Amino acid sequence: MKTASANAAKDLYKQLRCLSWEQLWSKHVPAFNRETPGSKARNAGLVRAVSVVFSESGSHSQKAEVTAWLRSLLKDPDEKIRRYAMAALPKIGAEASDEEALIELLRKENPTERERKYLARALDKIGGKATLDVADKLPVQTSLKVKASIAREESPSTIRLDERIEKIAGLQIQLRSRRGLEGFIRQEVESSQQARQLFKVKSSRPGLVELTPLADFSLSDLLSLRCFGTLAFVLKKIPKPDAAPIAKVLAASSHLLQTLTQGSVRYRLDFPSLGHQRALVREIANRVYALSPDLLNDARRAPWAVEIHPYEGQFLVELRPRLSPDPRFSYRRLDVPAASHPPLAACMARLAGNSGNDVVWDPFCGSGLELIERGLLGGARKLLGSDRSAAAIDIAKSNLEAAALRVEADFFHGDFREADLASNSISQIITNPPMGRRVPIPNLAGLIADLLETSARVLQPGGVLVFANPLSIRPSYARLELDMKQRIDLGGFDVHLERYIKTHR
Ligand SMILES: C[S@@+](CC[C@H](N)C(=O)[O-])C[C@H]1O[C@@H](n2cnc3c(N)ncnc32)[C@H](O)[C@@H]1O
Repeated sequence: MKTASANAAKDLYKQLRCLSWEQLWSKHVPAFNRETPGSKARNAGLVRAVSVVFSESGSHSQKAEVTAWLRSLLKDPDEKIRRYAMAALPKIGAEASDEEALIELLRKENPTERERKYLARALDKIGGKATLDVADKLPVQTSLKVKASIAREESPSTIRLDERIEKIAGLQIQLRSRRGLEGFIRQEVESSQQARQLFKVKSSRPGLVELTPLADFSLSDLLSLRCFGTLAFVLKKIPKPDAAPIAKVLAASSHLLQTLTQGSVRYRLDFPSLGHQRALVREIANRVYALSPDLLNDARRAPWAVEIHPYEGQFLVELRPRLSPDPRFSYRRLDVPAASHPPLAACMARLAGNSGNDVVWDPFCGSGLELIERGLLGGARKLLGSDRSAAAIDIAKSNLEAAALRVEADFFHGDFREADLASNSISQIITNPPMGRRVPIPNLAGLIADLLETSARVLQPGGVLVFANPLSIRPSYARLELDMKQRIDLGGFDVHLERYIKTHR
């Protein structure tokens, strides 16, 4: 339970937090400095307010003055004021000399248990090599955090995509995607000769395909597949998300992690279905560190995520490479606000297929993902994009250039209905039209009906239209036949991915 004095400090903090830095610095801080030790402690909330307000505003030189003031408070006779200063210093952006001042307190002043806790918390955030020299006086958590931040700065880690992963008994691979795309992933694995030699589809369910490796493989082999969103290795299935088994399995994966990481092996822990779980994360991190000190828990810029997912009444401990930006879609120099999910664009390109000499049009091309994915698939003779946004056209051109495709391309800035396309001139239309979610569309039904009508006109007989249909609208033109329909999650709402063929009659 909070004491009356802690509550008073909190109330004062809330009042002062709303003031400007000028008011705090010119009025409240001088008044505080004049107070006697007993009354200073009653006004400890000011220290917190100053650190928060100055971390958000105030110039560099003002911040330096505030830091000097906080440093002087580390020597205050009142333990409460010292603790508040310890908590405040890292917020302003402390320097190496602050680390020294904190360590001095730890060494000399025989701090109370509570003060030691505050010192450790401050050193968690600002500590460097000097902190590691006094690790015996600090909780293991602090050494771990400091080691991770030194490692992050000294050797930013990358994942070795081409390193071979030897066949590990029982290792499973999870390919996750938006719900509804699992069939495309499965098909992509089963239809690629290279993928079929390396992986076998073990099972699939909405949003998830499981693969069993059949031979040594590399992450690059997996990344030759374009229809999934994220990939992960299943390290183990456990009955409950307890710290001990998770730590054990992670420490046992140290060799795999070392093999696949260039630089320090850092990982973040996530419980996607259970929320933050801070205490559990801390416990697992400390246990892993005790078992395998080269594995450092670090939420910032870690190359690996260890995720605990619920699965058939149990939990899977998964290891996911954090590949951001995703190397498969590195051609995305720039984006439009409603850009497609890149793996969806890859699925749509595959759904359209490859007749060997295709002329492909995306009437709502945005940043050009569908066109580029279709180009990468091969067999396209010409890519055509239209968009009524001039910025989108520039972005699509720039992305297409980055994709380095050897395919002729042409773009039209304007409404797709005004694109100058002859009847029967296009073999494939692949598109994600506006859905009316972020930007309301005055007549979405009219827009989709026009898309269907235009498609029926410009497509060659046998040509295909692949599009994400936000409405349950069907073409009234006998020559467009619905040939495939799949409900998919478009990032929080469902639409149907549809494929139409223009008939020969
Ligand atoms: C959902 S976004 C397409 C995103 C695109 N697939 C991508 O990956 O970036 C829809 C696009 O349609 C464009 N648009 C909306 N109405 C249009 C119209 N009548 N004619 C042409 N383009 C239109 C918007 O400017 C927007 O770029």
